[in-house]
Amino acid sequence: MSKIPVKPASRPEGVGLLGRIRLFRQDMFASQPSKLYHAWMAVTRTPFFSSYLINQPNLVNLVLKDRPEDFPKSPVIHDTLRELLGNSVFVTNGETWKMQRRIIDPAFEGGRIKDAFPAMRAAGLAALDRLGDGGEVEMEFETSYLTADVIFRTLFSIPIGDETAAKVFQAFRDYQRSQPLWNLPGLLQMPRWFPRFRSGKSKEAARKIRGLLQVLVLARQSDIALGAAPDDLATKIMTARDPETGRGFDVEEMIDQVAIFFLAGHETSASALSWALYLLAFDQDVQQQLASEVADLDMKNIQFSQLSKLPFTRAVFRETLRLYPPVPMMVRETMHKEPLRDRIAKKGSMIILSPWHLHRHERLWDRPDEFDPDRWQTENGKACQRKAYIPFSAGPRVCPGAGFGMAEGVLLLAMLVQKYRFEIVKEPVPVAYLTVRAKNGILLRLVPR
Ligand code: HEM
Repeated sequence: MSKIPVKPASRPEGVGLLGRIRLFRQDMFASQPSKLYHAWMAVTRTPFFSSYLINQPNLVNLVLKDRPEDFPKSPVIHDTLRELLGNSVFVTNGETWKMQRRIIDPAFEGGRIKDAFPAMRAAGLAALDRLGDGGEVEMEFETSYLTADVIFRTLFSIPIGDETAAKVFQAFRDYQRSQPLWNLPGLLQMPRWFPRFRSGKSKEAARKIRGLLQVLVLARQSDIALGAAPDDLATKIMTARDPETGRGFDVEEMIDQVAIFFLAGHETSASALSWALYLLAFDQDVQQQLASEVADLDMKNIQFSQLSKLPFTRAVFRETLRLYPPVPMMVRETMHKEPLRDRIAKKGSMIILSPWHLHRHERLWDRPDEFDPDRWQTENGKACQRKAYIPFSAGPRVCPGAGFGMAEGVLLLAMLVQKYRFEIVKEPVPVAYLTVRAKNGILLRLVPR
């Protein structure tokens, strides 16, 4: 049984909310008080507002599945992303959000992922070429480049080497690390007129990205009109109509959606893939078991249907999403007064759903801090998968790319581990940017098998 040292001895107790937020950005293990891995609910009161971090499965279900309309997305996190994402499905609520999901969801249904599979495979093969003979590699950059390649190929049928795609990727990198995880004035419920911090750099990057995406969307629009468009995700979404109103996305709305597909689709998968490789490097036995499962596959011709025959690779990816959920926290707010355990949350209170804490909760999971891909076969693992595992969220706002992300993760992991053995060069420190990343990247040694 493998154990990973994910809980350092020092865990600050009695650190205030702002201190904790700052620390969360610094080191996700050292910053989080141990009580958050044990409590069913933790309440933080400030002079301005209260927030409720919820770990109790039936309360998580209440917010995400039973009455999601009473817990809409809070603008707190998304205010800072709005300049990039506009009115995309990630930030909207109510009728607008419902309409957007009715248009988007069919593009991600079962068979559609199969259609996207050859593009994923091509991106994976290109990455193997780039990595060549291996050596010491900063894997976060490589996995970001690779998953961006997957998104460009599946959305627009262009590889990352394409000039516009390469520019978008670079602009996203400039944008990403200039973003605060939290919008502090929003968090403290300052009035909307209170000046929000926006770095000139991040605004400029957002403007540039939207300009580049507009070029791609307009070109695709004219290809569709000419009947010359490839049958990829962009075409599917641009030609889809809301079955209830008959309307589709206009160019501006499509840019909003493409921006979130690109951001949500490549940042999350890159984070998961690089942490998976780190965990495999940490536990060489598990890595060997995965390597044996994939050893005989012909990666140049691997088919979507073969993924279902890789249960161990899938279990490793699933376990990575448990220990390092790319989206560590989600924020909602209460529409009304809400009884939560022995408290009454006022209207407008902040509800924090935290995959990071829920997935390591001591009262739910057996050996919560161990990296153990076999846990999914145990009674406890199965029960927790149902009630305490939300890497893709849950309920109607569940990630529409969940099936896509799982297929991509399993495929790319299989390809990389078939070709290389991974070893740790330096212990990474997890920090929360837009997703869970390592403070100075994830430096691994790749040794060809
Ligand atoms: C391992 C990969 C992925 C993970 C862990 C992940 C996780 C998540 C999570 C937790 C949410 C909910 C966020 C919230 O409610 O605040 C979300 C939403 C979303 N994800 Fe993913 N995601 C992944 C891959 C993808 C991919 C590949 C795409 C698209 C190509 C995608 C598109 C979206 C979109 C559009 C939303 C917004 C949905 C809504 O609010 O209705 N994701 N994702």
